[in-house]
Amino acid sequence: MDNRKTRILTGITTSGTPHLGNYVGAIRPAIAASRADNAESFYFLADLHSLIKAQDPARTQRSTLEIAASWLACGLDPERVWFYRQSDIPEISELTWFLTCVAGKGILNRAHAYKAAVDKNRAEGEDDDAGVTAGLFMYPVLMGADILIFNADQVPVGRDQIQHIEMARDFGQRFNHIYGREYFTLPEALVDEEVATLSGLDGRKMSKSYNNTIPLFAPREQLKKLVFSMLTDSRAPGEPKETEGSPLFQLYKVFASAEETAAFARAYADGIGWGDAKQQVFEIVDREIAPLRERYEALMARPQDIEVILRDGAKRLRERYAMPFIAELREAVGLRDLSSASTIADSGEDAPVEAPVPTFKQYREADGKFYFKLMQGDRLLLTSIGFDSPRDAGRRVAAMKEGALEGNEDFRLADGVSSDEVNAALARFVAAQLEQN
Ligand code: TRP
Repeated sequence: MDNRKTRILTGITTSGTPHLGNYVGAIRPAIAASRADNAESFYFLADLHSLIKAQDPARTQRSTLEIAASWLACGLDPERVWFYRQSDIPEISELTWFLTCVAGKGILNRAHAYKAAVDKNRAEGEDDDAGVTAGLFMYPVLMGADILIFNADQVPVGRDQIQHIEMARDFGQRFNHIYGREYFTLPEALVDEEVATLSGLDGRKMSKSYNNTIPLFAPREQLKKLVFSMLTDSRAPGEPKETEGSPLFQLYKVFASAEETAAFARAYADGIGWGDAKQQVFEIVDREIAPLRERYEALMARPQDIEVILRDGAKRLRERYAMPFIAELREAVGLRDLSSASTIADSGEDAPVEAPVPTFKQYREADGKFYFKLMQGDRLLLTSIGFDSPRDAGRRVAAMKEGALEGNEDFRLADGVSSDEVNAALARFVAAQLEQN
């Protein structure tokens, strides 16, 4: 793969509405990374994945729009990175099937999300697979196709996704092995230990599932209200406050400069009242978010523009990579133009046509003696002299099967066959034997 740029690929599941935790933990660092010159970046809306959980069409559409608008508003530049919607690249779905046919079911049984569903069913005394769709089970294969279709080198993910990347490597490797060439680059998970996780309103990790989030583009008044509803302890104004473990302080810190953070820590030590502290946190968050919010609202008012951006990204990407690559993969697996079929079974144009594995045949002639011959396909390589017993003939065959051609007295090379040729054929026989064991 010559000196191409490192390919970095990230999928964004289109469910829910992005919150400040997503912004700080994923969107902001990913957009910063997308500006690097030494990488070719792929950012896509994993809308096919979203169908596994969300089966409300209006919500799916809405969420896809909101998430696309959010990434664009936060500065993702579709001229500079590949920005597309998974469902606009049909080659991903086709590759999913190719990978499904090489993926070990046993590996999928071990996927965390599937196992968690099974464990929950067991705990509740239900059938193992109660309520589990094949979509949930196949999640890692679709994700593998997302990554392998573009031969991504690196996939920035959270810890919970590392297993999926390992599975993608496994599927890619199996395919490469079965079809005999390095079709797929094996991707690596890129786990950033530094990224901030934010606490939510109640002090637990900010997460949709805890219902404690601050929506990224909450209108200004709502943002203020939510910040003011954040959990604090009961220390009165004038009493020194702890910065450690304070969700407000943590939120301030991820939006402030080092000097501002130091000043805020001093204010905590000096006993700033919680009302004042909240006002400062609100202002520092809004300072960064306000211009993005304005862009977001403008984008949301023109969904047709977002549609054009996404379609254009997918179209260019398909032409550039997905369509030629899937054509190559179809060829690899044998979904081929029939008119190019060769009448003798061979293993394709790309692989050198290997000589067939030779075979020994034992037989008895009219003279009552026991003979053997060595054939390679239809070609006769040698014939033995007549032996008195089948055991004698068998012993000689056994020696030849070990690759020994010495002692020319008891066989005769067929017309036009050299002893080199027979030696090569015997070597091929031995190699095939080894492969089988
Ligand atoms: N599974 C990822 C998540 O939940 C989303 C995703 C889908 C993804 N396909 C991907 C991430 C490919 C990276 C690469 O966050």
